[in-house]
Amino acid sequence: MKIRKAVFPVAGYGTRMLPATKAIPKEMITLIDKPLIQYSVEEAIDSGIEQIIFITGRAKKSMEDHFDMNVELNKILLESGRTKLYEDMKRISEMADIIYVRQKEQLGLGHAILCAKDILKGEPFAVILPDDIILSKEPVISQLIRQYERVNGNIISLMPIKAEHARRYGIVSIDTRVDERMYKLADMVEKPKDTPLSEFAIIGRYILTPDILNILETTQPETGNEIQLTDALRTLAKNGHVFGYEFDGMRFDCGEKIGLLEATINFAAQNSELAPELRRIMSKLDYKD
Ligand code: G1P
Repeated sequence: MKIRKAVFPVAGYGTRMLPATKAIPKEMITLIDKPLIQYSVEEAIDSGIEQIIFITGRAKKSMEDHFDMNVELNKILLESGRTKLYEDMKRISEMADIIYVRQKEQLGLGHAILCAKDILKGEPFAVILPDDIILSKEPVISQLIRQYERVNGNIISLMPIKAEHARRYGIVSIDTRVDERMYKLADMVEKPKDTPLSEFAIIGRYILTPDILNILETTQPETGNEIQLTDALRTLAKNGHVFGYEFDGMRFDCGEKIGLLEATINFAAQNSELAPELRRIMSKLDYKD
């Protein structure tokens, strides 16, 4: 079945980025010239996703406004002859069919996904965690969809990490290597305190089959007292239904300062308008070590 829907859990508070996120959602923080959330929405659309489901919470209105039509602004841009900008703004409001679902309580990633159950109507779906911004030739969701079409099972995006960073991630254990980048998974643990199961961390891109929703309904809160997607996937993995794919691309954790800074520099370096100036700025930096 075609992957048409993508769930975006966007109800989190973004405390790692305070005070920037005191009055704006973390998804609206800017990377170069676009809010973070727009990168992931564009990734989904470029991967053939037709419907986006935002699992949202209080204080996220500016995100809804961003993807809505701003009639007054459009009028001003048109009347002052700034047609290119007008076209850009119109494109943003027309780019996606977005449904908003409120997650009333912050009960974890697994719970957030469960909030989309009625809208998913038994279809397989993508999950995108928009804190994870990925610079790649082919959008990562599109890479995962190609693998899904091959194996017809749950697929998690994987990235090798250093063992000392394992406690920030879900970490998988490998059952068998299917081919160069594809693995069948045996198990996984959310934010392990002990020796990690492998060097592979789960990154915020998934293709999931609807059976995960039934498992989530009975999954008990664990790490951080939250219902974890990793725990539900673990149950599926033990029955042999979960694959991991080492995607092609550079991932940045834009939910924290260094990740956002690294993303900003890398995206600027890939932008022909900004790259020459970036080079000049970097060569003159006065570092405080
Ligand atoms: C979530 C997932 C975790 C994954 C991480 C990737 O954690 O639960 O398994 O490794 O995203 O960014 P979070 O960072 O939301 O705590």
